[in-house]
Amino acid sequence: MENIQILIVDYGSQYTLVIGRMLRELGIRSVILPPIKADIWLQKNTPKAVILSGSNWSVYGENAPKLPTSLDVRGDKYTILGICYGMQLLAYVGEGKIERPLTQREYGPSVVKVNTNHPLFKNVSEETEVWASHGDTVLELPKNFSPIATSEGIAGMTSENNRVMGVQFHPEVVNTKEGKKMFQNFIELSNCVVDWSPMDLILQIQKEVVGIVGSEKKVILGVSGGVDSTVLAGILAPVLGERLVCIGIDTGGGRFGEIEELKNNVTSAGVKNLNIIEASDEFIKNVGTTINSEEKRAKFREVYKKTFDEQILKHGASFMLQGTLATDIIESGQAGESAMIKTHHNVGLSFEVEDLHPLRHLFKYEVRELGKMLNLAPSVYERNPFPGPGLFLRIVGTPVSKENLELVRDADKTVSDILKSRGLDKEISQLIVAMLGINSVGVKGDERVYGHSLAVRAVQTVDFMTATGYHFPPDVIDEITSALIKHKDIVRVFFDMTPKPPATTEFE
Ligand code: XMP
Repeated sequence: MENIQILIVDYGSQYTLVIGRMLRELGIRSVILPPIKADIWLQKNTPKAVILSGSNWSVYGENAPKLPTSLDVRGDKYTILGICYGMQLLAYVGEGKIERPLTQREYGPSVVKVNTNHPLFKNVSEETEVWASHGDTVLELPKNFSPIATSEGIAGMTSENNRVMGVQFHPEVVNTKEGKKMFQNFIELSNCVVDWSPMDLILQIQKEVVGIVGSEKKVILGVSGGVDSTVLAGILAPVLGERLVCIGIDTGGGRFGEIEELKNNVTSAGVKNLNIIEASDEFIKNVGTTINSEEKRAKFREVYKKTFDEQILKHGASFMLQGTLATDIIESGQAGESAMIKTHHNVGLSFEVEDLHPLRHLFKYEVRELGKMLNLAPSVYERNPFPGPGLFLRIVGTPVSKENLELVRDADKTVSDILKSRGLDKEISQLIVAMLGINSVGVKGDERVYGHSLAVRAVQTVDFMTATGYHFPPDVIDEITSALIKHKDIVRVFFDMTPKPPATTEFE
């Protein structure tokens, strides 16, 4: 971790890794550490800047995480930017006043007035749209600090020497329209120099993995044919050769033609050793025992782990590699202290051998960049994501069965084909067609039928941490509906445009 220019102290905000992503987009490497580790790290390292993340905590909360004791709060050694809780902590140690006033709670979009003479807001509009998510607010600034942004109350502050700053809103979230400019300004203010490039990252990942696995041992890589695992395979195939044993599992939860696509993608990434394991009966039997989404995920994980453990033994592998991304880790509640949203199928599993997640600090769009660098086909690196537990998740409120999976798979193909034929697939980040456990009465060919309901959902998003529901044009809604109800057992089709949050991308 030498030469890291920015330390991000993670207080458990859902957006902490998004800060890292934003910096990387601007060409800057950073390290994210929870407060205690940050404290130790700061005793041995002097970065150019420290960013304090947001949090669910209130600074007055019993056990609320504190500033690292070794942090130079005057900013003599490095600049400091406190975001939300980070700003409140800075105000708290400076004996400012923080409260939870009923009138100044802000969740969602907000407009702040900024002082454009302050270097943090250079070239930012005087009134700018930001994303806020906080209950506590700084009501009085610490001594020697002055306000640099206001909304209902104080939205930003700076020390006299402009070395220590805080903002109450989240500049890292895409909904803060000029957030990137603010980070660019912060980077300049901190004298950081561009030190990140996709090619460097590919070399770093190769070096990291070879450094751990050595020159003889075999590794298993779980591949789905999706962007993450295929890119990881493409990065490692040249350095591991035949020792990279790629395993794809046919769980029965894949979309139409998924296994063929997997084979093509992974082979074209340069993999020599690919094995497809047919395990659909076992997955369907186990996952089909419950309709509770977390229990389904737990069952899926169990069979997933067991299948890989068998393969590890069979191939005599010493390591298990997975293409887990930062987003998967955040939402599984494994990134520092962020809250658990859902159990991802491949995060936190204890395999028979050590598991490695070389893409764990990256976001989807960054992995796509690496795919491009590796000269993979655009159909691979531009591919929309699809969850590991696949269509199993998209059967909601009714048990998973072979028949239900077939129905959802056909419906997914029908809708995908329509979107492709109209070129709309390029506009959306992910399509979800889910079967709902609501059977209802319908009429088909003058006869009463009692059939299934489907939900169709598409989202647009940059990083899957937040998403907006896609509004299909009316004629597309009609085309999708009439194509789906041709199936003898489908009587109703709903369209779901709920944003994330509060909904998630998946309908599960
Ligand atoms: P949510 O539903 O959490 O989804 O908003 C965010 C993105 O993650 C995908 N997803 C998963 N991917 N294993 C995966 O590999 C999983 O268990 C899993 N759950 C959700 C989801 O499809 C979306 O792209």
